[in-house]
Amino acid sequence: MKKYLVIGNPIEHSLSPKLHNYWLNKNKIDGDYDKKLLTEEKVEEFLKLNQKVSGINVTVPFKKTVLSHCTELTALASSSQSVNTIILSNDKIIGDNTDIYGFEQSLKNLNFNGLNKTAFILGAGGVVSSIVLALNNLGVKKIVISNRTKNKAEALAKNYNLVVADWGKIVDFDIVINCTSVGLKLNDNLGLDFSKVKNKIFYDIIYKPKTKFLTDAEGLGNKIIDGKMMFLYQAQKSFEIWHGIKPEINKEVINLLND
Ligand code: ATR
Repeated sequence: MKKYLVIGNPIEHSLSPKLHNYWLNKNKIDGDYDKKLLTEEKVEEFLKLNQKVSGINVTVPFKKTVLSHCTELTALASSSQSVNTIILSNDKIIGDNTDIYGFEQSLKNLNFNGLNKTAFILGAGGVVSSIVLALNNLGVKKIVISNRTKNKAEALAKNYNLVVADWGKIVDFDIVINCTSVGLKLNDNLGLDFSKVKNKIFYDIIYKPKTKFLTDAEGLGNKIIDGKMMFLYQAQKSFEIWHGIKPEINKEVINLLND
């Protein structure tokens, strides 16, 4: 039986095992998908000593940590400097990125067209480079980034040709994407004033619970998107990379995340 798992910290909340085990079962693949809580210091040892594992998903906060422990990086992992999918075989540790695909596909699915559009990114954590590359693929004209700690936004802006806005300033945009961790906990509040914004798209990469960022925006008549489909598409792509089968995303699969 082949073994797969997701590493992160915290990891208890991860729905990846439920989703991947469902797909393994549906596709009659002899495999098992588990989760593993790690600390930063243990990541390297874990990757190097776990050659019995065939594939690993990487979640917060290790998407950058694992970069230097991989023996090879795909072009997507290298351009984003972020790894969320690892293929282990014959002593090789290959780092890949399916977050870019996940985010891009979630918007393509809604017929989003980036032409002449401005995107406003909140946050500068590990996932942001993937979001930026996906937005570029979707053809957006301009990307503005804002982060509480400005120098992290500036570093990303330099690498990916973005415009930086001060934290608290609400710029003109067509789509705003919350990439901060604010909203993961109930009653979390970003403290930004979007009250004058109407008929725009508000995207939160957090998929559970429904964030205040989204409920407030919806109340003002904006279109809202949560992180559910991004999560499903990145997982679908990882599964395809490991097993050579593109698993189905249907109502039953979506409901797995709602239980
Ligand atoms: P990492 O930086 O390890 O990749 P992350 O969880 O991906 O971590 O990123 C957390 C993001 O949420 C950061 O952009 C962080 O802002 P800082 O760089 O200023 O820390 C942002 N964030 C977390 N708590 C926040 C808060 N209360 N208000 C605003 N931004 C917050």
